[in-house]
Amino acid sequence: NWPASVTLKEVGPRDGLQNEKVFVSTEDKIAWINQLSGTGMKSIEITSFVNPKWIPALADAAEVAKGIERMPGIVYSALVPNRQGLERALEVDVDEAAVFMSASETHNQRNINKSISATFPILREVAQEALSAGKSVRGYVSTVFGCPYEGPVSIDEVIRVSEALFDMGIGELSLGDTIGIANPKQVQDVLDILLKRFDAKKLALHFHDTRGTALANILVSMDMGITTFDASVGGLGGCPYAPGASGNVASDDLLYMLDAMGIQTGVNPEKLLSAARFIQDKIGRALPSRNLQVGSSN
Ligand code: HMG
Ligand code: MG
Repeated sequence: NWPASVTLKEVGPRDGLQNEKVFVSTEDKIAWINQLSGTGMKSIEITSFVNPKWIPALADAAEVAKGIERMPGIVYSALVPNRQGLERALEVDVDEAAVFMSASETHNQRNINKSISATFPILREVAQEALSAGKSVRGYVSTVFGCPYEGPVSIDEVIRVSEALFDMGIGELSLGDTIGIANPKQVQDVLDILLKRFDAKKLALHFHDTRGTALANILVSMDMGITTFDASVGGLGGCPYAPGASGNVASDDLLYMLDAMGIQTGVNPEKLLSAARFIQDKIGRALPSRNLQVGSSN
């Protein structure tokens, strides 16, 4: 029971780069995002307006947002944790603010230095201001399938945080498997519950591939009606406040699977692989994407 088409959201320039030790120069980030804009991706998360002391890899957020070419029809999104971040993002006119929090208390605290209850009013204000500035707002909930500090996360907490984010006016909620711990059976169980409350069209799934289960999890999600997935070219990335977490599912591996299944995405595989090769060269190590490895050994 597969969808005819799927929307891929490229998060490599944000989620991919935020945890890399190599600082990719502003110029290279801009060149890379411009390449991604030419792949057919309709949404690119270009950077993050968080405290640069916490995420030095993205300290050049404003320069990147100002430097890239904006292609019509593409939503250029950025992560925004608070009002200060929103002001910085609005100054450089990003299209979308992505707010984020966790379903587990300890991860929320380590990641954004606040309790869950203290985070709600901050994000509500960000969402309201972004919406009144004519921007769209996306929400992330992290640790949906497990927390690196607390272990299993209660579905009731996931529902509570998700409802709070939708109440703030977010247009789409991305459910994060922050530490890549989910399995297909668990994804089925979680979606079974969430889809009774939320519209599948307003949910995205954000799988990290730490344990190699991301594509299997995506398959199950598609079977249950989910048609939007976040991914990073090359499988770049991780989460600095999730010990052991590795990259997002590789956009190029996901695209290979979808193309082979006849599921439309509008993304060009050769262009996507060449964007993956570009950032692999800049990072200076082999990235986890399997298709990238096939490409290099042939
Ligand atoms: P804080 O230290 O509690 O902030 O950080 P504060 O409000 O007390 O301010 C302290 C200092 O931070 C001040 O500067 C502020 O100006 C500055 P100082 O006076 O010390 O020089 N500051 C800022 N500077 C620039 N931009 C801002 C900003 N806000 C405050 N927006 C804060 C709170 C949230 C800012 C901090 O904890 C932070 O930046 N955290 C970011 C963590 C992060 O980026 N994590 C990774 C992204 S989330 C993720 O990867 C998961 C996801 O992919 C989904 C999944 O996989 O599950 C989305
Ligand atoms: Mg992530």
